[in-house]
Amino acid sequence: MRTFSSLGVALLSLGVVSAQTVSTDATCGGTVGFTCQGSTFGNCCSSNGWCGSTAAYCGTGCQSGFGTCTSTSVSSSTVVKVVSTSSTTKISATASPTAPQSAQQCLNGKNVPYKMTSDAAYADLVEPYNLRLPYKPAVVVIPTTNQHIQDAVVCASQAGIKVQAKSGGHSYASFSSGGKDGSMMIDLQSLQTVSVDAAGVATVGGGVRLGNLANGIWNAGKRALSHGTCPGVGIGGHFTHGGYGHTSRNYGLAMDQIVAADVVLANGTLIKASSTQSPDIFWAIRGAAESIGIVTTFYLQTRPAPANITYLQFSFTDILKSKTTFTNTWLHLQDVAKNASVTNSKLSFGVYMDNYGTFSLSGAYFGSVADFNSTVRPELLRTLPTSTATVESLSWYDYLVKVSGSTTIQVPTTGYDEHDNFFAKSLTVPESTGLTSAGLDALYDYLQTSGSIDYYVIINLYGGPGSAINSKDTAFAAYSDRNSLWVLQNYGATAASIPFVNGINSAIINAQPQTSFGAYLNYVDPSYDAATAHKLYYSTAVYSRLATIKSQVDPKSVFWNPQAIGA
Ligand SMILES: Cc1cc2nc3c(=O)[nH]c(=O)nc-3n(C[C@H](O)[C@H](O)[C@H](O)COP(=O)(O)OP(=O)(O)OC[C@H]3O[C@@H](n4cnc5c(N)ncnc54)[C@H](O)[C@@H]3O)c2cc1C
Ligand SMILES: *[C@@H]1O[C@H](CO)[C@@H](O)[C@H](O)[C@H]1NC(C)=O
Ligand SMILES: *[C@@H]1O[C@H](CO)[C@@H](O)[C@H](O)[C@H]1NC(C)=O
Ligand SMILES: *[C@@H]1O[C@H](CO)[C@@H](O)[C@H](O)[C@H]1NC(C)=O
Ligand SMILES: *[C@@H]1O[C@H](CO)[C@@H](O)[C@H](O)[C@H]1NC(C)=O
Repeated sequence: MRTFSSLGVALLSLGVVSAQTVSTDATCGGTVGFTCQGSTFGNCCSSNGWCGSTAAYCGTGCQSGFGTCTSTSVSSSTVVKVVSTSSTTKISATASPTAPQSAQQCLNGKNVPYKMTSDAAYADLVEPYNLRLPYKPAVVVIPTTNQHIQDAVVCASQAGIKVQAKSGGHSYASFSSGGKDGSMMIDLQSLQTVSVDAAGVATVGGGVRLGNLANGIWNAGKRALSHGTCPGVGIGGHFTHGGYGHTSRNYGLAMDQIVAADVVLANGTLIKASSTQSPDIFWAIRGAAESIGIVTTFYLQTRPAPANITYLQFSFTDILKSKTTFTNTWLHLQDVAKNASVTNSKLSFGVYMDNYGTFSLSGAYFGSVADFNSTVRPELLRTLPTSTATVESLSWYDYLVKVSGSTTIQVPTTGYDEHDNFFAKSLTVPESTGLTSAGLDALYDYLQTSGSIDYYVIINLYGGPGSAINSKDTAFAAYSDRNSLWVLQNYGATAASIPFVNGINSAIINAQPQTSFGAYLNYVDPSYDAATAHKLYYSTAVYSRLATIKSQVDPKSVFWNPQAIGA
C-alpha cells in the first residue's frame, strides 16, 4: 500500500515541485511519478512501482519514462535533481550518493563496525543463501553489542536508508540483504549466546542458527525446542515468521515458544517485549519482525527432550505413475490426517515429491515404534501401494542429526557458505476444504508438464486432531494461518523454473475456486506485489492491526523490504 500522494505532499511542502523528482524511498511511477533514474535504488521503475537495478525489478517490466533496466548513467538531456530533506542543497544525480556517505559518517562517529561496498570482506558478507537474488546493500553493519545496533538504526534513519537485519540469511527473497539494492544490512553474526536458566527459558542471540541452538540447549541439560530441520537457518527469520518442523504439531510453531524478546526500535530504543511489556510490539514481531524492529535476544521456553522419538519414512515407487493412484493416495492421507483415532498430537508427517518420480512420506511419532506400529501404521498405509519403510527409534539428538540432511547439526559461526539458486512458492490449504479430488487431479496433470524443470513439492500436515499449531489464533501472534490442514512448498531450481512453479499454484487454485488459499510467511515469495503479499500472508484484520502498530513505532518505515508492513 504505497502512498504516492502523501509522499508527493511531503515533497511539495519542502518546496520541491518537479515531475522528475528522484525517488527517495524506492517507490516510483504512479500518478505522482517519481523517477528511479539516478536514484540510489537503481534506474528501473518496475510495473509494480518499485525502483531497482536487478532482474527482480526489471523482470516485471520497466515503466517507460521512469528509468530503464540497462542504463546506469543519466542522459544529459534529463535534468534530475536529488532532494535532500535536511537542507535545500540539490546535487546532480551523477554525484556520489549522499545517503551511504552520511550513514558512514554517522557510524564512524559512534564507533559502529561496518563494511562498505569497497571493503574486501563485503562480497562474502552480502552473498545470500538464494543466489538468484544478489542485492547490494549500501553498508553492512556488524554489531558486537546491542548499542551498535541501536546506533546503526539511528544512523540509517537519519541518512534515509532502509534497514533489514540478517540472522541466518536464508530468506527466499534475500530480504535480509534489503530486498533491493542500497539498504543497510545489520548482520547479527556476533550475537551467538545460548544459555538456559533454571526455569528452562533459553536466552538466545539473534544471530544463532538452528543447529547451534538445538545443540546448545541440548548441552544445557538435554532441553528441546520445536523448529525446522535445516541447521543453517537463522533464529531471526525462522522464529519470527512461524517455524515448522515435525515437532510442531506437538510443541507448536517455533514462534509459539518465544516468551519475550529484546527489540531495537526504529528510534534506536531497546525494549523488552513480552505478553505484559509492550504487548502490541510482542504480538507484531511474531509475524512481522522485519517491519517492526531488530530482535537482539530471544527468550524461549524449552522443554525436556524426550529420551527417544520414532522417525518414520516410507518410499513409494508407484504413486506418481497414475493419476488415480495419486489422487486416491492423497484423499486417503487426508482422511488419516483428519481421523482422530489415528492422528493426535504425537504424529507428524509430510510428503516430498519431485521430477525424478520420488514420493516419500516421512515424519515423526512421539512414542515407541511398537505404538506407532499398532496405532498408526495400519491405517496410514491401508489402500496405498507397497513401500520401502524405515521406522526407527532415535535418541532426541540422533533424530536432530538424522533430519538435518548432514552429519552434524553444529554450524560454523562465521564464514557460513551454503547457497542455492531457486524460486519457491507456498500454498496454505484450509482445514475447512482441504485438497479436493479436482485439485489433486489438476496438480497431477500439471506436474506431468515439467519437462526438464528441476522441481520439488513438499506437502506438510499442520492441522488435524491435536495440532498445537492450530490451537492458537490471531490474538496470540501476528500469524494468521492457524487453520491450515496442509502447507505446500513448491520449489524450483534457478530462475528458469519460475513460470513452472507459478503454474503449480495456479493449477490447484484454479481447480478449487471455492477454497481460500493463503501463503506461508517463512517461504516468502518475492513475486507478489506488496498488497497481494499482505493479503495472502496476514489477511485483512491482522494486516490492519500490524499497519497501525507500524505507523506508531516506525512512521518513517526505517525497517523496510518490498513486502514490509506499510510497503
Ligand atoms: C535450506 C532451507 C531450509 C528451510 N527449512 C525450513 C523448515 O524446515 N521449516 C520452516 O518453517 N522453514 C524453513 N525454511 C524457511 C526459513 O524458515 C526462512 O527462510 C527463514 O525466514 C530464514 O530465517 P533466517 O534468519 O535464516 O533468514 P534471514 O534471511 O536472515 O531473515 C529473514 C527475514 O527476517 C528478518 N530478520 C532476521 N533476523 C531478524 C531479527 N533478529 N529481528 C528482526 N528481523 C529479523 C530479515 O530482515 C528478513 O526480512 C528453510 C529455508 C531454507 C533456505
Ligand atoms: C479412522 O481410522 C480407523 C482405524 O483406526 C478406521 O477404522 C476408520 O475407518 C477411519 N475412519 C475414516 C473416516 O477413515
Ligand atoms: C513394526 O512393524 C514392522 C513392519 O511390520 C516390523 O518389521 C517391526 O518389527 C515392528 N516393530 C515393532 C517394535 O513392533
Ligand atoms: C533410542 O535411540 C537410540 C539410537 O539413537 C537406540 O540405540 C536406542 O535403542 C533407543 N532406545 C529405545 C528405548 O528405543
Ligand atoms: C521510541 O519509540 C517508542 C515506540 O514508539 C516510544 O515508546 C519511545 O518513547 C521512543 N523513544 C524515544 C526516546 O523517543
